[in-house]
Parts: sequence; C-alpha cells; structure tokens
Amino acid sequence: MIVMGIETSCDETSVAIIEQKKTDGFGYVLAENTLSQVNKHNKFGGIVPELASREHEKTLNFLVKKTLSEANINLKKIDAFAATTGPGLLGGLLIGSNYAKTLSLANNKPFLSVNHLQGHILITRMNQKIRFPFLSLLLSGGHTQLLVVKAYNKFEIIGETLDDALGEAFDKTAKLLGYGYPGGPIIEKLALKEKSKNFFKLPKPLLNSKNLDFSFSGLKTSIRKIAEKPLNKSLKCKLANEFQECITEILLTKCEKAINLTKKEMDISSFVLAGGVASNKFIREKFNLLCDKHSIEFIVPKKNLCVDNATMIAWAGIERLKKKKSSDPVNEHPRPRWSVENL
Ligand SMILES: Nc1ncnc2c1ncn2[C@@H]1O[C@H](COP(=O)(O)OP(=O)(O)OP(=O)(O)O)[C@@H](O)[C@H]1O
Ligand SMILES: [Mg+2]
Repeated sequence: MIVMGIETSCDETSVAIIEQKKTDGFGYVLAENTLSQVNKHNKFGGIVPELASREHEKTLNFLVKKTLSEANINLKKIDAFAATTGPGLLGGLLIGSNYAKTLSLANNKPFLSVNHLQGHILITRMNQKIRFPFLSLLLSGGHTQLLVVKAYNKFEIIGETLDDALGEAFDKTAKLLGYGYPGGPIIEKLALKEKSKNFFKLPKPLLNSKNLDFSFSGLKTSIRKIAEKPLNKSLKCKLANEFQECITEILLTKCEKAINLTKKEMDISSFVLAGGVASNKFIREKFNLLCDKHSIEFIVPKKNLCVDNATMIAWAGIERLKKKKSSDPVNEHPRPRWSVENL
C-alpha cells in the first residue's frame, strides 16, 4: 500500500510518500519534502495566515513533483491520497486538501482526511508495535493535551492547557529574551549553558491541582516581568534553564498522576510523547525515567517526525485505509477547529 500525504495546516508545506509493507505492517518513507516558511513570517513576529496560504499555493505543486521523482514512482502507483483537513489555518487546509482531493478524483483512488493531532500521535506506530490503549502527551505549538488513545480514531482528552500551549510558551519566552522563532530549540540550547536552581523563583501553575490540566500563561507573565530588566547572556541562560526545569516538573507531576489513575482502570502499555516540543532532549530524558519507574514503555518519534511533517499525515491515512475508512472527497470539508475527540 503506497500513500501520499500532504500537510499544509500551518507554516510548513510538506509532502510524503510512504509504503506500508505486507511483511511487517510498518510504514517506510519513500520520499518526503518539507519547506518551512519560517523566514517569511519572522519579520512579522508571528504567522500571517494570508502569507502562509500564498506560500503553500506557490510551493505545493513543486513539492509533489519533487517527492514523486525522489520516490521514483508515478501517480498511478499511489493507492490513496491523504491530507490534513484540520485543525489549522483555513487557507492552508483548503490548499492541501483540495490538491489531495483532486488527485484522488482524477486517479479514482481514495481520499483520506486526517486530523493533524491524530497524525502527531499515531506516527509512533509507523515503525513499532504499540497496542491500544496507550497514554499520550501531545506538546505542540498550538496544543497541550494528555490523552488516552483507545484506537486509531478514539482519543479521550483527560487533561489539557487552560491557556497557552507549551510550544507557544517556549516561543514567547525566547521572544522575551530577544531571540527569534521557533523558540523551543533556542531555549533548549541556552539552557545547556548554565545550571541554576530557583534563582528566579518561577511559578508552577496548577502543579498541585487535583485535575490533569495545565496553565502556562502565569509563567509567561513572570518571565515578561523578569525580562523587563536587562539580562546578560549568563542570566538569559539561567532563565532558560529554570523555565525548562519548571515546565518539565509540571509535566512530569501531571503525567505521573495520569499514569496512576489510568492504570487502575485499564492496561496501559506505553506512554507516547508527541508534537514539536517532544523533540526537546531534556524533556525526553526525564520522561524516559518516569516511564522506567512505572514499567511503561516510553515512546517518542525521531526529532524530524515530532515537528510538522507529511509522513505523519500519510501514516495516519494508512491507519484509516486499513480500516476501510476513506473520506468523501466532495463532501469532506476542512475544519480549522477540530477536536481529536470527534474524529
Ligand atoms: N527542541 C525543542 N524544545 C522545545 N520546543 C520545541 C523544540 N523544537 C520545537 N519546539 C516547539 O515546537 C513547536 C512546533 O511544534 P509543532 O510543529 O508540533 O506545532 P504546530 O504544528 O505549530 O502546532 P499544532 O500541531 O498544535 O497545530 C514550536 O512551538 C517550537 O518552539
Ligand atoms: Mg503540528
């Protein structure tokens, strides 16, 4: 089974062709191309939706051709076309999904509508056996959710952020310290340069609350206040380090609570960390230890599969196709807001 995936929900245009092999059932990437628009948006201090749409429109056709040529196959060999149909920016979603729909209709092959968050989480199943149910923490630029994943299309959110997403908190912290976007990798690098404990006394919102929800806006406000005074490089590194320590402690506390609660009700086999922030080495290492402590398998995608990519969309498409759940290319419309609980 060979599937093309298209991802255009935010500021990356990405196309992938993957093959699921009969022998082991796993997915193999034949080719993938991702073009980030980050340099186009940087000077505006955030993503400009109209600009994002124009860039997707300009580059998608080129990327599809390049990916086909690198995979060394022609369109006739593709068994289905998958695209992100939400959540995300409407312009981008329309461009990517209409492209995939057109290819599906013209070649008389199934169209597979994929939820972007479903893609972020399911990608871990592309090359290893992970049985349902499993626990997942999705940490991306727009979402922070703790979920029980019961099937490829059954997700239950058991905790989430009440305000900012964690990726956004990384991005804003970097911006307040005078750095560019995306902030996550910058904060990670700065944090390696200085170690300090509780020098800035950052708050840990909802750390001891009974529920599994998160809140990061108070932390952002404290960092803004600290950054109002000029900080030298060493202090910036200390702050980055304490920010990372602080959010990791919050994440670990909530996830340990989630592990203990869900273990009572079901047999949870694994813990999947997903989304762009999951590429952070410090966070990965701490979660590895937590899972070891609870004898749960810890799973995290390779770094390039944590951030937005079309491989995860093609793979989630394959998970649908295996269950014969293709979408109607005429009546399936993009959903800029689309909870992973309503697939
Ligand atoms: N090494 C890292 N450490 C921390 N954060 C990181 C790292 N690398 C990337 N990020 C963060 O990941 C986020 C991007 O992740 P992702 O591509 O999954 O988000 P998105 O697609 O914009 O949002 P969503 O998936 O919710 O729609 C950015 O906020 C970025 O700062
Ligand atoms: Mg994403």
